[in-house]
Amino acid sequence: MSKIHAAITAVNGYVPDYILTNDELATMVDTNDEWITTRTGIKERRILKEEGKATSDMAVPAVMGLLEKRGIGAEEIDLIIFCTCTPDMPFPATANILADKIGAVNAWGYDLQAACSGFIFGLTTGAQFIESGKHKKVLVVGGDKMSSIINYKDRTTCIIFGDGCGAVLLEPNEEGLGVIDSILKSDGSGCPYLNIKAGGSLYPASHQTVDAAMHFAYQEGRTVFKFAVTNMAEVAADIMKRNNLTANEVTWLVPHQANKRIIDATAERMGIGEEKVMVNIQRYGNTTAGTIPLCLWEWENQLKKGDNLVLAAFGGGFTWGSVYLKWAYGT
Ligand code: UT7
Repeated sequence: MSKIHAAITAVNGYVPDYILTNDELATMVDTNDEWITTRTGIKERRILKEEGKATSDMAVPAVMGLLEKRGIGAEEIDLIIFCTCTPDMPFPATANILADKIGAVNAWGYDLQAACSGFIFGLTTGAQFIESGKHKKVLVVGGDKMSSIINYKDRTTCIIFGDGCGAVLLEPNEEGLGVIDSILKSDGSGCPYLNIKAGGSLYPASHQTVDAAMHFAYQEGRTVFKFAVTNMAEVAADIMKRNNLTANEVTWLVPHQANKRIIDATAERMGIGEEKVMVNIQRYGNTTAGTIPLCLWEWENQLKKGDNLVLAAFGGGFTWGSVYLKWAYGT
């Protein structure tokens, strides 16, 4: 019997309507469009503004649209892996909240926290349940409401992040299509450089933690940039080497959208021209676990069965990695 691979059989995404432009940010902090554009490639990002709306509320339209595309009901889903660092609440898991909202009554689920690498960690984990034969339909969701943890007085972080969510469905494939390989890495010594200090068991919420702005995302940008540029490029090059993939054979690089300069460095290291690199950072900024599925969603119509995709990400933890997959549908 041929090996079972976990193939993506549907993808969908959702971004909120509100557009936060660089010019609007320049009215909030000391920055300007030119600085943000040249340093990051970002022009605008989406923000989930409505009161009482959380990360799961972006996942609902993303997943409902996905199910419609695939022509299946939510009750057919076996497992939901929700990759996010902005869960609706510390517990229960946002995967459970989503399952309830969409009527996935037969699914179990859990949240996966690997910051910006969340989606590739979730994709790799979800694939195991398909490859083992344990499950037939696994939903991997990547989404973050970054605006809920951003300090809009801190110009070093507020310019980068946006809100958005994407989702893919994994199903068994016996034609050799789907997730072929992945390399995942983490290094906890990166914690001081990219974190939220309070709200966990170390510094539970208190007046003091709120006053000290310890519930917002903190990033030492330059340090993170150096690690990201080196590691994301390295791991993407490694996965090509390990699978004997030449630059010509790679149809698309699907990079985490953290900074256009990091994306360019990764593509250059892989020897891949910009026409084969998915980039939408200019419109959405960094949606953390949402970036890669949002790219797949936007490029879905251009993807063909058998295309070789290399996914690559770097994020808080530090976490980083790369996934090589063969696209399973489209002509
Ligand atoms: O997705 C998770 C992983 N995260 C990342 O991969 C992000 C990695 N880091 C980055 O993308 C970049 O480091 C940033 C975009 C965050 C910053 O760009 P940079 O080129 O590394 O700038 P910098 O932090 O070295 O700052 C350069 C200068 C500083 O001024 P001085 O000290 O040279 O006078 C900053 O104060 O730019 C200043 N600056 C700004 N100026 C205008 C910092 N933020 C801003 C701003 N507008 N928003």
